[in-house]
Amino acid sequence: MRSEFKNEVFVNFQEKSNNEAYDAALKKAEAELGKAYPVVIGGEKIMTDRKIASINPANKKQIIGSVSQADIPLAEKAIQTAAATFETWKRTDPNERARYLFRAAAILRRRRHEFSALMTLEAGKTRVEADVETAEAIDFLEFYGREMQRLSLPQPLTVSEEEENELYYLPLGVGVVIPPWNFPLAIMAGMTTAALVAGNTVVLKPASTTPVIAAKFVALLEEVGLPPGVVNYLPGPGGEVGDYLVDHPLTRFISFTGSRDVGLRINERAAKTQPGQKWIKRVVAEMGGKDAIIVDKEADLELAADAITASAFGFSGQKCSACSRVIVHEDVYEIVLDKVVERASKLVMANPAEASANLGPVIDEKAYAKIQEYIEIGKQEGRLVLGGGTGSPDGFFIEPTIFADVDPEARISQEEIFGPVVAFTKAKSFDEALEFANNTVYGLTGAVISRNGAHLEKARREFFVGNLYFNRKCTGALVGTHPFGGFNMSGTDSKAGGRDYLLLFTQAKLVSDRF
Ligand code: NAD
Ligand code: ALA
Repeated sequence: MRSEFKNEVFVNFQEKSNNEAYDAALKKAEAELGKAYPVVIGGEKIMTDRKIASINPANKKQIIGSVSQADIPLAEKAIQTAAATFETWKRTDPNERARYLFRAAAILRRRRHEFSALMTLEAGKTRVEADVETAEAIDFLEFYGREMQRLSLPQPLTVSEEEENELYYLPLGVGVVIPPWNFPLAIMAGMTTAALVAGNTVVLKPASTTPVIAAKFVALLEEVGLPPGVVNYLPGPGGEVGDYLVDHPLTRFISFTGSRDVGLRINERAAKTQPGQKWIKRVVAEMGGKDAIIVDKEADLELAADAITASAFGFSGQKCSACSRVIVHEDVYEIVLDKVVERASKLVMANPAEASANLGPVIDEKAYAKIQEYIEIGKQEGRLVLGGGTGSPDGFFIEPTIFADVDPEARISQEEIFGPVVAFTKAKSFDEALEFANNTVYGLTGAVISRNGAHLEKARREFFVGNLYFNRKCTGALVGTHPFGGFNMSGTDSKAGGRDYLLLFTQAKLVSDRF
């Protein structure tokens, strides 16, 4: 049996030797850039004519890799291969399935900087953000492996005198896994391995801006001996290949993390029964957020400012959990605003390969344009107190941007911007702050900074989000410690990294044997 699950410790980049090791890993990763990556189906590597270049968002001229794009015939081949492989994989001992995850975790731990450095280059993550993500990926592997071992043990049932009753968790079948680019290793690996360790086979369609890190993880699964066909790597245009995979009658479930619009589209399409389809497709969809931090009048304002700055500007606000709204009691509003502006103005925006960078670029041209449009909207809806501009034209850099005095109904208070932009709103009372916090269609994360126990109790009951944090930032959920998932339009609340998660990829069979 494995030891008890523990979260992976983060690398301390205050230590010179760790920075040097990271610099060396970056150099090595750069030396390997520009390779061509195939589609992988049933272990077969297929280069296609149609390729997309994955580029470094901090240095647009740098090509990370050239990735083969699947078309509809390859999508069909991937589904058929996954369906055929399911017939053997579903019978594989759950402990064997778990051991592939433990082996992958061990290798990831040994080659930690190598994976993190690639994320720095492909996704624009600072070394701290990249390292935390690799740690999270290791955690998912270790946690889901143990979870499958737990679910394969005899399950507790009420004992009957005349019968022997047993409940088994069986896999579902072929799963289509569609991850986002913003946690290109951890979320992608977590979604993929949760599905496979439960005995399902997977068609993995990686995010189009970060397909190389996904290819590297798929190669790692091959290295640990995962049988061919259990995970099929199928990069391709979301609309074209994604729709085909979602609609396919052999698809048993779709595990999606991404934007609300794409998630709703998948949910709608999956609900339509196709000719020959034998089941109701299951959809796990984790989507966007418009997450708020409330600051009460009785609060540690230094802590509040630290929590807001980290939550709003970590990875340039490109986290579903990021704080994009700050709702402050009027008595302390100006003080909190000043403190956050002071902290955010000191953040170093630079190429994330540099050790000094606190924030890097946003992911691509489309995000860069969209965030700037929202900044223009923000100028009409609030008072720009920090940022609003762009950085080096080498990449997609956008300054940490703060708007004050924003109406809770304003567009920048309601719509997910997914960039380093935060809106401050003044509330007359704690109750009004809670009302503002709850007034969007989303419900993913939230935080309350307060010393008032009664207010915290009220928020515990009434702040309607899947992940609520008190007196800390609203980002940085840890596997096993903070199961993660949102309410309302933030998704199906799957609680990734929690004890309920694997159940989503299984069906329970009860056998009752009367002697
Ligand atoms: P996105 O919706 O644009 O893309 C997500 C994935 O869907 C990508 O792999 C994309 O290629 C694919 N896709 C696009 N169209 C498709 C279609 N028609 N059919 C099937 N697949 C399709 O999202 P994104 O920009 O990659 O990620 C950012 C979004 O993800 C934000 O909204 C963020 O809040 C959300 N997110 C949520 C969580 C969470 O746990 N709730 C975590 C991370 C990110
Ligand atoms: N799980 C990630 C976080 O909590 C999204 O920040």
